Formats: sequence, structure tokens, C-alpha cells
Amino acid sequence: MVRRTWRLGVAGLGTVGAGLLDFLAGNPDFAPAGDRAEIAGVSARSRSRPRPVDISHLRWFDDPVAMATSDDVDVLVELIGGSDGTAKAAVEAALRAKKPVVTANKALIAEHGRELAAIAEASEVPLLFEAAVMGGTPAVKMLREAMVGDEVSAVAGILNGTCNFILSEMDATGRPFAEVLAEAQRRGYAEADPTMDVGGFDAGHKATILAALAFGCAPCFEAAEIEGVQAVDQLDIRLARELGYRIKLVAAALREADGISVRVYPALARLDHPLAQTSGALNALFIQGKRIGRIFIQGPGAGAGPTAAAVAADISDVMTGQHRPVFQKPAGELKPFTRIDASRHASRAYIRLLVRDQPGVIAAVSETLAECGVSIDSFLQKPVEDAGGVPIVLTTHLAPESVLRDAMDRMARLDAVVAEPRMLRIAPI
Ligand SMILES: NC(=O)c1ccc[n+]([C@@H]2O[C@H](COP(=O)([O-])OP(=O)(O)OC[C@H]3O[C@@H](n4cnc5c(N)ncnc54)[C@H](OP(=O)(O)O)[C@@H]3O)[C@@H](O)[C@H]2O)c1
Repeated sequence: MVRRTWRLGVAGLGTVGAGLLDFLAGNPDFAPAGDRAEIAGVSARSRSRPRPVDISHLRWFDDPVAMATSDDVDVLVELIGGSDGTAKAAVEAALRAKKPVVTANKALIAEHGRELAAIAEASEVPLLFEAAVMGGTPAVKMLREAMVGDEVSAVAGILNGTCNFILSEMDATGRPFAEVLAEAQRRGYAEADPTMDVGGFDAGHKATILAALAFGCAPCFEAAEIEGVQAVDQLDIRLARELGYRIKLVAAALREADGISVRVYPALARLDHPLAQTSGALNALFIQGKRIGRIFIQGPGAGAGPTAAAVAADISDVMTGQHRPVFQKPAGELKPFTRIDASRHASRAYIRLLVRDQPGVIAAVSETLAECGVSIDSFLQKPVEDAGGVPIVLTTHLAPESVLRDAMDRMARLDAVVAEPRMLRIAPI
């Protein structure tokens, strides 16, 4: 059998790029078909920056786009990041030059996936991105390959390790959000600018990609509804636990009769639910299929080793000639992503009110909910020091979100209610 050597151009030598170089140095024969991979070139911003791997023997390209189109490079491995700019230019250039691309770039795929898929398919080369979602845990292959015989109705899980670390620490230590975020930044778990993570945008990118793979639609990041963890209050973490729940940042993509919804929001999961038990920087995902039923995967969502392993798996697919449409269906056949009116979603909810300690309050709250048609599942009134009032918390049965919002507005206007009521959804899966 003739063995081929695949010449890789690696753009980006940060956490993932250095992790990949380290992996390839120790495992040159990793691909199952027996072909070999060698590094034909590397590119990053700074040639002289100290790095955890030796690049002195590797050919250096100042310009990742020039590397992507070099005759000496067979495959571009894009590990720069960002939805636009150099990463996009290099990926486009490689695809147009009929070179396979492997990337870990969730922002790029979520925001430009359809146009890049069209270029890849016109050039008849693969565009692979296993590492873009859940790092080393194989969620992309699961949906793109293993689930094609089923009809997926929902995917939901914990897709951002930074937020999960912050919420887990807040739960375990009782410390407020700002203090835990500062510690996460000191320990290198959160970026200096944490907006992408704590604002929910990173999870939104990943959920957008999963929705495209699960439902055969074009990724459409603008249609995702995103709420981060910045407003999660220690009081709600404590009260939710009293009711038997833990608060998690949930990313969910649901296929419904009239369209597809992609949403990221803090939600309650029962303490015995696998999402509640996914702690620290771990990621987790439920996939609901019509025939297979419910699948649950959990594993590392980031880090040099796990993410480089996912990149290597994609490189291996290139070497073994695996070739599928980028998002299950050819780019030209991808359905438009129809956003659902969020107010029509039905959710179970956790509602927290701060009230004056006076008679009749509970009756007034119960009556307001009954008038709106919201039925109560569980109820807790618990004095909490320094809460600024007596907290009343309750969970509801399923109700349309427009109805829940209406009930919230009405409760906010009750005389005894001293602060804006807080509502969190209960995880949908
Ligand atoms: N970190 C993870 O655990 C993880 C997990 C899953 C997916 N990802 C994705 O993997 C990608 C890389 O992430 P990372 O954490 O490895 O990022 P990183 O540590 O910030 O590294 C980024 C690399 O890109 C280079 N770079 C930045 N701008 C460039 C430009 N204009 N031209 C050439 N090179 C440029 C940087 O060069 P210098 O080194 O010279 O500054 C650096 O080597 C991102 O898309 C990220 O979302 C990361």
C-alpha cells in the first residue's frame, strides 16, 4: 500500500496550536490508514514569542493566508480564532485553493458556516471543526455522523466551561459572581475580557453549530437568543438549592413545528440531573433523537490536550478520505433557520420575589398567578439575612413565556413586593 505524507500548515500557535504540535511530535503515525502527517509550515503573530513547543526547525510564514495557499501545504489547520479577519481569510483562501481545512474556530463556523460550506463543497474538500464544540468531547461527529439515521428534536447542555466553573464555585463557596470571576481570571480559566464567555456568546456560537448539524439548517448566530451569567445572584443559587435545584448556563437548540430555536440562559437543573452534576470546567450535552432516544455525553470542553486530540481526529478524517457535506446536507440545500417567537415557548420557571413581612402577601401572589393561568409546583418562604426583604420562591408548571412575563409584571406591581421579581427557566431537557 502506498503511504502518503500529508503536509500540514498550522496557523495559530497558542493553547490549541502548541497542543497540536506537541501531539504530532509524539504521535506521527496517529492516523488509522497508515499515512503520515508532517508540519510543512507554521504561522502566528510573533515569531520570537517563547512557546511551550520548539518551532525553530519548522518553516515560518509571516502571513497565514500565504501559508494556506502555499504549494507546500496540503491541509490548513486554523487555530487563530475570531469570526473575521485573518482566520476567515486564511480558511477561505485554503478552501478556494482546494485544500482541506480543519479548524477549532466556533465563532467563524457559527457566523460564516454556510458561505464557507458552499466554498468547501464547490472545491470538493472537507471543512472540519470537531474541536469547535465541547473541545475534546466528540459532539460534532456524534451529530454529523452517528445520528444521521435519526431525527434529532433537541440538543441541550452545558457548553461553556468558564461559566460552569464560575457557577460551580459560587455554589460551592457562597461567594458572589464578581469575586469568583476575578479568581477565574487569576487562575487563567477566564480571559481578561470575559464577555464572550460570561455573556453567553461562546455557548451561543456552539449551540448555533449544533443546531445546524442536528437539524440540517444553515447556522444563523444572529437568531440565537443569548443571556449570560452576569446577573446570577448568590441568593438565587442558595434558594434554588433549597428547592432541590442547581443553576447552570444551559444552551439549547430545539426543533419545533414552526421553526428552530437556539437559546442560551441560566436555568435550574434538579440536583440529581446530570447537568446539575456537571461541575467545574466540564461540558455536557443531551441529544434527543426520535428513534435512538436520549443520549448524554460529558467531558472536557477546552484545554490544550483535549482540544488538540479533537483537531487530530479531524486531520485523521482528512487523511482517511472521509468526506461528507459540512452540515449534513449540501450547503445549497440547507433550510433557512426560522426563528421562533420566544414568547410562545412553554417553560417551567423559578420565580423569586422579595416581599415585606406582612399578612396576605402569599395569598396576593397566589391569586396573581392563578389569574394569569400559571399553576404553582413548589413554594418556599425563607427568611434570609441581608436579602432586603423576605424571599418568596416558587416553581411553576409549564406555561407560555408570555404568560409568565405577564405574571411577573403583575407581581412587580403588588404593594408588598419590594424589588424587581426574578425569573429563571427550569432546564428543558
Ligand atoms: N483554548 C481552548 O481550550 C479551545 C478549545 C476549543 C476551541 N478553541 C478555539 O481554538 C482557537 C484557538 O484558541 P487558543 O485558545 O489556542 O487561542 P490563543 O491561545 O489565543 O492562540 C491564538 C494564536 O493565534 C495567533 N494569532 C492571533 N492573531 C493572528 C494573526 N492575525 N495572524 C496570525 N496568527 C495570529 C496567536 O499568535 P501569537 O501566539 O504570536 O500571539 C496565537 O498563536 C480559537 O478559535 C478557539 O475558540 C480553543
